[in-house]
Amino acid sequence: MPTFIQISDPHVVPKGQLVCGHSDTAAALRSAVAAINARLPALGPVDCAIVTGDLTDHGTAEEYAHFIEIMADLALPWRAIPGNHDSREGMRGAFAGQDWMPARGPVHWLRDFGPFAVIGLDTLLEGAHHGWLAEEGFAFLSQSLADLGGHPVVVATHHPWLHCGIPAMDADNLRNGAALMDLLEAYPGPARMISGHVHRAITGQIGRVGCMIAPSTAHAVNRDLRADAVHALALEPGAVVLHSWLGTQPGLISDVLPVTLNPALWPFD
Ligand SMILES: [Fe+2]
Ligand SMILES: [Fe+2]
Repeated sequence: MPTFIQISDPHVVPKGQLVCGHSDTAAALRSAVAAINARLPALGPVDCAIVTGDLTDHGTAEEYAHFIEIMADLALPWRAIPGNHDSREGMRGAFAGQDWMPARGPVHWLRDFGPFAVIGLDTLLEGAHHGWLAEEGFAFLSQSLADLGGHPVVVATHHPWLHCGIPAMDADNLRNGAALMDLLEAYPGPARMISGHVHRAITGQIGRVGCMIAPSTAHAVNRDLRADAVHALALEPGAVVLHSWLGTQPGLISDVLPVTLNPALWPFD
């Protein structure tokens, strides 16, 4: 059963630092790596992990080195796309040895899993928090979809087009996502979209395209829709998402796995 694990928004900072003085993102990613490794024997073969952006908080070489040090313990190969907190050149410098990292330009890639393929798209607009798929991104997507010719596809982006209902986050989503969704709507095969950025587990449907936003391994964006609410982060439990292709009802299922493990099990009878 082809499977990958989505890790999103780890926001790693230099050693000894916390995000905004509150969130120990390095400890959260270490916890996620340990939880994934511990679960792997029970999950069956997992092909790889896909990190959907905001690998670091500021995109510095020091932060990427810290990220790499933590991810070295993950018992899976992994690949990534950038988020608004990343630096494209910072990623290129840190991940130059990875076969998915292009030597220049945006960080787009295509990964074939057999019964489905994942297209990773770089939606980073340097200097902005909102996402933008540049012309070359649309060209890469169009060519990839043409090559796949109706094969089931998952498009992975950091910024979602799916609205989450939190006004400040919806203002900073993939602002030209409607055009991307038009391409997926016209695609002659099954299409899904997975993203990050909102630090919450949110699913929705746009036309015939199922969309999912993954939680962060660390802090969440608080959901408070009151008029006087302060846009805030919150230390909610972190999680990753297991995406598996089931042969029984061909399609991708997505299971949110917490980054903390509770080893207490008892028979369900
Ligand atoms: Fe983020
Ligand atoms: Fe983000």
